[in-house]
Amino acid sequence: MHELTYTSQAKKNVSLKDLNDILKTANEFNKTHSITGCLVYHNGLFVQTLHGAKKGIFDLLKKIQGDERHTNVNLVWEGPAEKEVFKGWHMAFFSPKTSGKTSESLIDFERNLITLSTFYKADSASVRIFWSIVKDLCLNEAQTH
Ligand SMILES: Cc1cc2nc3c(=O)[nH]c(=O)nc-3n(C[C@H](O)[C@H](O)[C@H](O)COP(=O)(O)O)c2cc1C
Repeated sequence: MHELTYTSQAKKNVSLKDLNDILKTANEFNKTHSITGCLVYHNGLFVQTLHGAKKGIFDLLKKIQGDERHTNVNLVWEGPAEKEVFKGWHMAFFSPKTSGKTSESLIDFERNLITLSTFYKADSASVRIFWSIVKDLCLNEAQTH
């Protein structure tokens, strides 16, 4: 098994419908291809980690790289992985847009992610990097409130 983590920049016009479409496609495709992972969308940026057979996740990354809904896809980690860290999550998804847009819910969203990132004791380098990027995203945003 193998895993990878990348970051990318959402196009300015990305809508809630786009996010729901991505999630729906990801859940269906990843489930049938035994790929698990997690996707966070925050402040115009995506961070995603994918876990599965090496060819499977790199073929998927190629498709994702060609997706018009984002740009600047930057692979920050790839390597072999033993454990399935996001077991059962074909594509777990976190976005403040799914929980309303009031500043209070945004702060809750960030707080929850920061807490998760702090307590997440992952053996996997890819997932540790994933959570550290998520934490940075949240802290950078928090400073601008
Ligand atoms: C940030 C982001 C993450 C995505 N993650 C996945 C994913 O995990 N699985 C998936 O099948 N598609 C994902 N997609 C959608 C793919 O880019 C693509 O639209 C999908 O694979 C369908 O491609 P096709 O129409 O060429 O088959 C993602 C798109 C974006 C923008």
